[in-house]
Amino acid sequence: MKLVIGGSTGFVATELIRQGLENPAITSIVALGRRENPAPLVTPKLKFVVCDNFESYPNSVEKELENADACIWTIAVTPMKLKTTPFEEACKVSRDYATTAIQSLDALRHKQARPLRFLYMSGHFAPRNPAEIPKELQDHGLINYGLLRGETETLILTYGEKSKGAVQSCVVKPGLIDAPGREKLEIPGLPHIELAGIAAALLDQVMNGFEKNTLSNDDLVRIGQKALIVGQHGA
Ligand SMILES: NC(=O)c1ccc[n+]([C@@H]2O[C@H](COP(=O)([O-])OP(=O)(O)OC[C@H]3O[C@@H](n4cnc5c(N)ncnc54)[C@H](OP(=O)(O)O)[C@@H]3O)[C@@H](O)[C@H]2O)c1
Repeated sequence: MKLVIGGSTGFVATELIRQGLENPAITSIVALGRRENPAPLVTPKLKFVVCDNFESYPNSVEKELENADACIWTIAVTPMKLKTTPFEEACKVSRDYATTAIQSLDALRHKQARPLRFLYMSGHFAPRNPAEIPKELQDHGLINYGLLRGETETLILTYGEKSKGAVQSCVVKPGLIDAPGREKLEIPGLPHIELAGIAAALLDQVMNGFEKNTLSNDDLVRIGQKALIVGQHGA
């Protein structure tokens, strides 16, 4: 299976690459990022691809993205970085880059019999409907950001629904992701998940099929725990 990971340098992407390399069912990983990875792993199974235009991929990047079986898209402006990013830029990075990715990966499949599986990482509080804005977003001044992420969820899911079976899309809505050695934040109302568990869950879902089109933090904890046990003891 050829897997594209959108965001080669990020917190989640780094763990996806680590686990993906250990998984024999994944035969090729293309890690797409805006810059060189500072600590690139050298193995024939993994290719880091640097891209300078995420709204219209250069031909050289398109070539690397051809005939992907699945994609896990982690690129976004996260809430922590929102303060230093103009909102227009956040829209481009968090929404438009993802919609370009799903369209391009679909168009770049020339010989696949199976559908493309595209998984978009969103967040626990992102509302798809302005009438359902959680109080927590209001409290943190994140209403427009939450709506942006919710709008992107809808665009990604609608693309899959309209693709006549060519693309299966899925949105995941984790809470706070914890990792050993990383400061554990607490935000009221926001659940937690371990980095190893969420990475295992995302890889499980793109390999074995999406359980449903939207996975909550609880779903991801459950799927990840099972996937890690299977990984340790064999299927
Ligand atoms: N971490 C959490 O606790 C958490 C919780 C819930 C949801 N999520 C969601 O999960 C996803 C991954 O989170 P993460 O913690 O792994 O985030 P991260 O470490 O900040 O990684 C984000 C990735 O996006 C890339 N990126 C940011 N701006 C970009 C731009 N202008 N052009 C191209 N690439 C750009 C980053 O590249 P650079 O390295 O070059 O900046 C990085 O590869 C995000 O959608 C996030 O909102 C995360």
